[in-house]
Amino acid sequence: MTPATRAAWKALSGTAEAGRRVHLRDLFAADARRFAHFSTRWNDWLLDYSKQRVSAAAMEQLCSLWQAADVPGWMARMRGGEAINHSEGRAALHIALRHPAHKGPILHAGRDVMPAVHAELDKLQRFAAQIHGRHWRGATGEPITDIVNIGIGGSDLGPRMATQALAAYRHPELRVHYVANLDGADLATVLGALQARTTLFIIASKTFTTQETMQNAASARHWLVQALGEAAVARHFVAVSTNLAEVARFGIDPANAFAFWDWVGGRYSLWSAIGLPLVLAVGFDHFRQLLAGAHAMDEHFFSAPAAENLPGLLALLEIWNTNFLGANNRALLPYSQSLALLPRYLQQLEMESNGKHVDRQGAPLDYDTAPILWGEAGTNGQHAFYQLIHQGGRLVPCEFVVCKQPDFPMAGHHEKLLANCFAQSEALMRGRTLAETAAELSASGMAPDQVALLAPYRSFPGNQPSTTLLLPRLDPFNLGALLALYEHKVFAASIIWNVNPFDQWGVEYGKQLAGRLLPVIVGASPGEHLDSSTAGLVAACRET
Ligand code: F6P
Repeated sequence: MTPATRAAWKALSGTAEAGRRVHLRDLFAADARRFAHFSTRWNDWLLDYSKQRVSAAAMEQLCSLWQAADVPGWMARMRGGEAINHSEGRAALHIALRHPAHKGPILHAGRDVMPAVHAELDKLQRFAAQIHGRHWRGATGEPITDIVNIGIGGSDLGPRMATQALAAYRHPELRVHYVANLDGADLATVLGALQARTTLFIIASKTFTTQETMQNAASARHWLVQALGEAAVARHFVAVSTNLAEVARFGIDPANAFAFWDWVGGRYSLWSAIGLPLVLAVGFDHFRQLLAGAHAMDEHFFSAPAAENLPGLLALLEIWNTNFLGANNRALLPYSQSLALLPRYLQQLEMESNGKHVDRQGAPLDYDTAPILWGEAGTNGQHAFYQLIHQGGRLVPCEFVVCKQPDFPMAGHHEKLLANCFAQSEALMRGRTLAETAAELSASGMAPDQVALLAPYRSFPGNQPSTTLLLPRLDPFNLGALLALYEHKVFAASIIWNVNPFDQWGVEYGKQLAGRLLPVIVGASPGEHLDSSTAGLVAACRET
């Protein structure tokens, strides 16, 4: 943590210690206006954090942490195009990707990036018009009916999640598929249902060197060439990358390559040409609305004071739960089938960004950073893992995301979804004491010895903290704002934790070792460098 935050940190430790034994139900009993005091609105959104285990004093001290760490100063550095990703010497300017053209320049290395950003957006729009208008034809002259995006991590999770989230806006005649896994089962099952002559592949990779994507791309190319011949590649493959030289080497026509830039991190790239499969799935106008929503959240983040700043509040509450209450995880629980992939998307955004072990100066951290993020769409999770959240005895801060209106209206569904979501947050907060449970069981006519036996099983500790984010509806604008909210939440938390959220060196080591092992798997001698477990696994694979 930065030296400036140490005093505020110390004060928070004292506040947490004093409040450790206070139960959430007592906090609600003591303050009839607790909801009003610990909730905030933005546009037609509501963020209710009254069920978090915070007091007014804790919130005040958390907000002073924001100032002490100079979050506003770091926002200015981000917007100014400084190389805030210092370990890779790069800026983090994903905000430029959704910055409206009329709002002036955004500078990187002294040059305005906005003309290039909007030229690329225009290119996406023209390409989508060709596909949707059935003007783009495959090698046999037929229009495209199926798009296959081949990418992984940030080149997959964002567009995949958003395509599902905006299912209500999908183009009626175009199917969009996603392939990420190196396991051939992923590509094979997608290809199994497709015709080469009506399929277009998007090879999406920032570096255009990622092993998984390059292997899947090569196999897809082989499948296509076998069906239609080598000359068909140009009509059936396009690419999105920062590495246009490698794209050309793969055989993709440079006219069909969409660019982005090294100042866009992979997990922050949905807003760039990496969004191409989403553009094709829902149309360019809806993609523009997504960008507008993200931009609106940027403006809010950059201008609102900490106490009213939605990304800021989420960051501060995460720090409170992690560093002062000792939580090591957070459950992300969207009560929306369309947002079912949001937990997976946020796993990369949050854990790849803030799962760090040294600070910005390279010194080892003596405090925790990003908690383990997990979750699943409600109500499915209720019938799987909620038991542990209610009675497993662990601290599991929960985050509910729910919309007032359904995106697929069906009589009788949405009211029940809302009731379940709010009931869960209430149950987690309140719990049910042994005495309450015993009284309820007795009132139902149960014999006293049975009451004594069963009451412990049927009582709940409660005091499980949660936040509820209530959106009006899941449309492109609100989805854009929601994803930008989490991007900025990650950034704000990283500043207070004093870590670089834009690198991911931890991922590199595994890639390096896989590269060393591959020759051994295919037959080379293991040599001396393998441990006995790894050597044993390789040997077992070679047994016939
Ligand atoms: O998983 C590591 C990572 O570098 C991610 O950060 C990135 O999103 C992913 O690999 C894919 O990289 P690329 O887009 O270069 O193929």
